[in-house]
Amino acid sequence: MTTMESLIGLVNRIQRACTVLGDYGGSDSIFSLWEALPSVAVVGGQSSGKSSVLESIVGRDFLPRGSGIVTRRPLVLQLHKTDEGTQEYAEFLHLSKRRFTDFGMVRKEIQEETDRITGKTKQISPVPIHLSIYSPNVVNLTLIDLPGLTKVAVEGQPESIVEDIENMVRSYVEKPNSIILAISPANQDIATSDAIKLAREVDPTGERTFGVLTKLDLMDKGTNALDVIEGRSYRLQHPWVGVVNRSQADINKNTDMVLARRKEREYFATSPDYGHLANRMGSEYLAKLLSKHLETVIRARIPSILSMINKSIDELESELDHLGRPVAVDAGAQLYTILELCRAFNRIFKEHLDGGRAGGDR
Ligand code: GDP
Ligand code: NA
Ligand code: MG
Repeated sequence: MTTMESLIGLVNRIQRACTVLGDYGGSDSIFSLWEALPSVAVVGGQSSGKSSVLESIVGRDFLPRGSGIVTRRPLVLQLHKTDEGTQEYAEFLHLSKRRFTDFGMVRKEIQEETDRITGKTKQISPVPIHLSIYSPNVVNLTLIDLPGLTKVAVEGQPESIVEDIENMVRSYVEKPNSIILAISPANQDIATSDAIKLAREVDPTGERTFGVLTKLDLMDKGTNALDVIEGRSYRLQHPWVGVVNRSQADINKNTDMVLARRKEREYFATSPDYGHLANRMGSEYLAKLLSKHLETVIRARIPSILSMINKSIDELESELDHLGRPVAVDAGAQLYTILELCRAFNRIFKEHLDGGRAGGDR
């Protein structure tokens, strides 16, 4: 792994450890550390393809998808890149003793854990589900899947649901450290996109918004999305990325991810409309673009992250010294984990600097 990869990996693990520490509270510095670390929030209207895009980025089938309101609690998904040849597995925060190697079971657990809080209803809950995936095939990223924005309440939902969802989503994307993955379906007018509407409100300059256009394959014959993709309809600082996810028919047929990605590549390579953009389209390109952006953001923030980490180390050391009093189960162990991770970050960063001075590349 490169130094940058291991730094991002450590940031990821610190973020996770801070989460595990949860409502124990911890010190202010741990809280600001968590707040400073970037994550990617997936935003869009209902059935715009948010969960499908997330699955494509991960390269695995593990999310409940479909028409109507499927995602009813935020899913905080941390991807941890592991060494080549190691076994891929997933772990939930609420089931930390269990390792999932069957991703079909991960989907089932997300559904059941959603229902545990909301019941088998169309209600939503702001309480997030935390899932980590460890795999040699992912890039180090934290992604958040969110319920879809809607315009009207349906049978079984309170009237306030439209606003409740919007407020929940806004609470994630208004944080300056949040990167917005704004999903719009190509078969609807971009001027009506819920994702763009919200992104424009919280990020008017478009510096932390990535526009993703799904369902290119479902556009009316004779039309194309070049005005959007080439930034003429709605300009963002980052390039728009078009994707083709699996259709509901593909899902029903159990079309696997490898085949789906190949079909997506073929779609762009042979498209008369988008062929000239083929190497800047698709889910794989999107994943690389995001991880590159994350790298830039973290690189720019290293000085402030480092000073926060040093402050956390000091606070953690004194906090651990005083752990005579009764604290939440495991809190001491979690504080210790964060301390170790912070120390590791500090060490790797210093080696990285020394390497830089010695003329080594980054
Ligand atoms: P979400 O509600 O925004 O999370 O959307 P989902 O990912 O659950 O997708 C909603 C439906 O749209 C599913 O049936 C998907 O199969 C379908 N879908 C999503 N993206 C595409 C796409 O690019 N092309 C086609 N044909 N169908 C898509
Ligand atoms: Na849906
Ligand atoms: Mg969804």
